[in-house]
Amino acid sequence: MYRSEVVDPAVDVLAALAGDGAALELGIGTGRIALPLSARGVPVHGIDLSAAMLARLAAKPGAERIGVTQGDFATARVDRSFRLVYLLFNTIMNLITQQEQVACFRSAAAHLEPGGYFVIEVGLPDLRRLPPGETVRPFTVTDDRLGFDEYDVAGQGLVSHHFVFEGDRVRRVSMPFRYVWPAELDLMAQLAGMTRHERWSGWEREPFTAESTRHVSVWQKAS
Ligand SMILES: C[S@@+](CC[C@H](N)C(=O)[O-])C[C@H]1O[C@@H](n2cnc3c(N)ncnc32)[C@H](O)[C@@H]1O
Repeated sequence: MYRSEVVDPAVDVLAALAGDGAALELGIGTGRIALPLSARGVPVHGIDLSAAMLARLAAKPGAERIGVTQGDFATARVDRSFRLVYLLFNTIMNLITQQEQVACFRSAAAHLEPGGYFVIEVGLPDLRRLPPGETVRPFTVTDDRLGFDEYDVAGQGLVSHHFVFEGDRVRRVSMPFRYVWPAELDLMAQLAGMTRHERWSGWEREPFTAESTRHVSVWQKAS
């Protein structure tokens, strides 16, 4: 995810949407996208819950140009408005209830200038590959890492299990998510006063089709 062929197309799209305005990243993490976007001249502010992630960001060159707020991006407020708000790398799914995801859309809209854009990058759930009665799908199987998504279809949730082999030890991390369909995201946008502007299957603006495994969606706040 740090390779330039992954980062650069995302930064190109975000810089074009920000124009001469400022950008707010929800779940800024260690600045994988915020730092190169800021280096393009876009003023960037970020929100993140994790003090550890923000400390890593602060240690990187260029971080002094980025404002940060520690808090929950579904509810935290930054006291200014932005041309662009963005939420990448499946991070909308870290909000594990519909109520929190709706609150996030409302918060994004509240931070936007009229006519501003909200961008989400998120994977589609692999449910078409889940046979009836089964709940687990592998998403990575390599020599040093195994990953499985465990679906709760009735509850629209999943837990991603990661097993990482480090010498003789196995490190396990299991994280809860709420998967969410594009149509539901469009409805959340509508509830927050935004309409869909674009939907691609990737940052090169590839068409979104029935075979897409993820999407980059852009909503616009009413002018
Ligand atoms: C998958 S990382 C993505 C980081 C960065 N956006 C990127 O694309 O590299 C998700 C980040 O969101 C943060 N996060 C998750 N849930 C959050 C919440 N409810 N409020 C604020 N930050 C949150 C995590 O601490 C983590 O830094």
